[in-house]
Amino acid sequence: MDRIRILGGVPLEGSISIGGAKNAALPLMAASLLTGETLTLSNLPHLADISTMANLLAQHGVMLGLNGADSAKGGFAGRVMDFNAAKISSTEAPYDLVRRMRASVLVLGPLVAREGKAKVSLPGGCAIGTRPVDLHLMALEQMGARIELKEGYIFAEAPKGLKGAHVVFPKVSVGATENTLMAACLAQGETVIVNAAREPEVSDLAHCLVAMGAKIEGIGTGSLRIQGQSSLHGAAHAVVPDRIETGSFAVAAAITRGRIELVGARRDTLESVEKVLLDAGVVLEEGAKGLIVSARENDLVGVDIMTEPYPGFPTDMQAQFMVLMATVKGASMITETIFENRFMHVPELVRMGAKVNVHGASAIVRGSAKLSGAQVMATDLRASVSLVLAGLAAQGETIVNRVYHLDRGYERLEEKLSACGARIERLKG
Ligand code: EPZ
Repeated sequence: MDRIRILGGVPLEGSISIGGAKNAALPLMAASLLTGETLTLSNLPHLADISTMANLLAQHGVMLGLNGADSAKGGFAGRVMDFNAAKISSTEAPYDLVRRMRASVLVLGPLVAREGKAKVSLPGGCAIGTRPVDLHLMALEQMGARIELKEGYIFAEAPKGLKGAHVVFPKVSVGATENTLMAACLAQGETVIVNAAREPEVSDLAHCLVAMGAKIEGIGTGSLRIQGQSSLHGAAHAVVPDRIETGSFAVAAAITRGRIELVGARRDTLESVEKVLLDAGVVLEEGAKGLIVSARENDLVGVDIMTEPYPGFPTDMQAQFMVLMATVKGASMITETIFENRFMHVPELVRMGAKVNVHGASAIVRGSAKLSGAQVMATDLRASVSLVLAGLAAQGETIVNRVYHLDRGYERLEEKLSACGARIERLKG
């Protein structure tokens, strides 16, 4: 298994280009199942999860086409891809693919809507939580699907097609909103989704669906109204820039007390993160090509945060922000309200000298830690990038193990950071 080696203590200076959002690309790829025409997606990031989703779609019978200069690098994770689901040869999403990436469950809604049936492996939990899909199933049942759980699979059937429904989610769920939104586009009649997720990735999916001929009102709000269509057509859509990658590199600039221009960053999707960084004393400026983030040694102070559904502070930025808070003056209270087990980065950060105490869903971070390099273990995607960030700030050498977690969500991380002066390399395992 590959490892990443970092010699910390270097203030990062330079610019980093922001890629397309993994969490937008995955549902957008699943949306290709909704039409027999070609969906062209551009600004697709080169990530393991994208390859996994492409492999899953291919085994459903989706024809994949690579084009654009970057696809010369081979593999499915080209920058621009064509998806054509004219012929769906299988409506089964097998366990060995779904277990690798939970977002595979996003083929469920499109398959039931387009083919009238689907057999999708239950995704199971992951390091950060049990990750149930009961809300996905609740919505599809309300739209007339017959759902049965057996042998670890979801069996869904709607032989006469789905019907529009008034779906009220008791809690905000990004994936359940996306599955329901995609299914509603081909349902008979009107579907209203109340308490819908408002994440920019959900809005990006909705804009793409509209380009494919869907009729959707309320995009960006917590209430979506969809008029079902008999079919959707092809379209071309550029994946929205990744706000979590942007936030992660903003922390890299702040924690090393350096200055990085984040090229292509979409600041309108980052407001809650920007506010917290500003309150902590980080300097944000509008640069010629993007957002410039900088910080000086003694200006940073502790800020409390609570993760919330968008537009609140994103749970996917909690681990990264915690590392920054470990190095500033003063204390910070961090409360995780979305997932039940998303503090696994804490023991590894404590081994590097961070002063963090976890009490249930909250962690108190006492700042001014002088982090020291150590051998550490990645456990999930965002925890692993927080360990890299800690290594960038720490004195001495840090080795991050199990970086396959990192490769799921960060493209060419070492390249982007070393271009800004970081002493970072990948040790092939
Ligand atoms: C998406 O996961 C993201 N993944 C996650 O990013 C992100 O952390 C999460 O949204 C929250 O923003 C993708 O978009 C591929 P949820 P998702 O359904 O859709 C509970 C990353 O690091 N819930 O909004 O699975 C659930 O347990 C990943 O990029 C139910 O109870 O998240 C959680 O507590 C990690 N029943 C809460 O809702 C359900 O049917 C929010 O989950 C569904 C979810």
